[in-house]
Amino acid sequence: MADRAEVPGHPDRPGTTPLEDGPEVGRVIVSEADLHARITELGQQITADYAGRAPLLVGVLKGAFMFMSDLSRAIALPVEVDFMAVSSYGSATRTSGVVRIVKDLDVDLVDRHVLVVEDIVDSGLTLNYLQRYLLARSPASLEVCALLVKDGQQRTTTDLRYVGFHIPPEFVVGYGLDVDERLRNLRAVHAHADGLP
Ligand code: IMP
Ligand code: MG
Repeated sequence: MADRAEVPGHPDRPGTTPLEDGPEVGRVIVSEADLHARITELGQQITADYAGRAPLLVGVLKGAFMFMSDLSRAIALPVEVDFMAVSSYGSATRTSGVVRIVKDLDVDLVDRHVLVVEDIVDSGLTLNYLQRYLLARSPASLEVCALLVKDGQQRTTTDLRYVGFHIPPEFVVGYGLDVDERLRNLRAVHAHADGLP
């Protein structure tokens, strides 16, 4: 695999790749360096809070796959990981609050310390549904670590134990987040541009 330094830049804009320079990729909202620094901090905080325990990290697919990968490595505890896949009915950029479980967990939650790892909280409806769903399985504890929270958008009160960044209420892509399944592999979180010149 090519080293990061060997990834060719876009010919007209040094330092950007052709993907990052695409018409739908807007300004950087959270840079790669800021993601790394904050995730390191979150990992240290979780390591301290869960000392002596082996938390079960539950990633919410697909958006949290990259965050889960980095966060799990920032935690210096014997964690286990599992994933759920949910899809919320709605358009590409708006949630309806009706959530369908596409892939359920493989493990039993009874007496486990469960930490839900979520990419972004917008209305909060997806997370609210998930919390109720997981609590019904009698975990010893249930907390949430959300990388991004969109300010002023929440339509439910959800207790978020760990938050990476509060961001303005606009649609974002990259670092796992998609628009119609695209742009998840951007290294930073960007605003979604409308693609018009
Ligand atoms: P909520 O139920 O409105 O909080 O929406 C949560 C889910 O919608 C997240 O897990 C994301 O998958 C998706 N989502 C919300 N906002 C964005 C965004 O700005 N970009 C990409 N996906 C988003
Ligand atoms: Mg999602």
